[in-house]
Amino acid sequence: MLIKVCGLRAAYGAVEVLHGIDIEADRGEVLSIIGANGAGKTTLLKTIAGVVRATSGEIIYEEKKITNERSDRIVRTGIALVPEGRRVFPDLTVRDNLRLGAYTLRNRRLKKDLLDLVLETFPKLRERLWQHAGTLSGGEQQMLAVGRAIMANPRLLLLDEPSMGLSPLMTQEIFSLVRKINSEKAISMILVEQNAHMALEFSHRTYVLENGAIVMSGESSKVKSDPAVLAAYFGG
Ligand SMILES: Nc1ncnc2c1ncn2[C@@H]1O[C@H](COP(=O)(O)OP(=O)(O)O)[C@@H](O)[C@H]1O
Ligand SMILES: [Mg+2]
Repeated sequence: MLIKVCGLRAAYGAVEVLHGIDIEADRGEVLSIIGANGAGKTTLLKTIAGVVRATSGEIIYEEKKITNERSDRIVRTGIALVPEGRRVFPDLTVRDNLRLGAYTLRNRRLKKDLLDLVLETFPKLRERLWQHAGTLSGGEQQMLAVGRAIMANPRLLLLDEPSMGLSPLMTQEIFSLVRKINSEKAISMILVEQNAHMALEFSHRTYVLENGAIVMSGESSKVKSDPAVLAAYFGG
């Protein structure tokens, strides 16, 4: 077991938005969490990443309890978040954005190897190393956001709606590259998506999140053909 989330609750002020979530992921696994806008997907990832506080429940990562640890400590333990909406630093170059992703690392050799890995995976970024991130296309910014997270040397990558605002073609490209990283570098992933089709296609297992609670889970190939999922996400 790589990560196990038990009975996780989170709230904004008095309003609870996660009502006791149980999920787990194995080493090497790509997990997807699908759900409509407002279901709590972003909150779940932010709580795992230590950006939103859990009000109860536990998050166990590699046998250690990380619930409500500081977010920089969580990065150091090997979990990196690619936030919703990409959030690259527009006025910094691609290279500086990537370097910032490695802020928790001291080992120069490792940083260099990670940069090489990112630039091999996303050759488009290599061509644009000295360009300001704000001048990149949406798809390139998403590649940069993923690349920046990889610079932290994670064993678990949390991806918040990587397809958002991208063309189907660009979405396909991003997902293929992300899957390549998963299979070649054994980086596990939790992917949250409104785009159920892509998420089911690219993950091993899927959880369905509705109004802050998990209502279904299973192998993605099985979830994909579930009548309730078909009706809710694929119009019957
Ligand atoms: N910073 C915030 N303050 C208050 N409420 C929030 C905040 N962020 C999200 N929410 C609310 O929490 C619920 C879950 O939101 P979110 O986790 O962003 O869902 P999703 O990512 O699935 O769209 C929604 O009702 C949303 O309005
Ligand atoms: Mg969201």
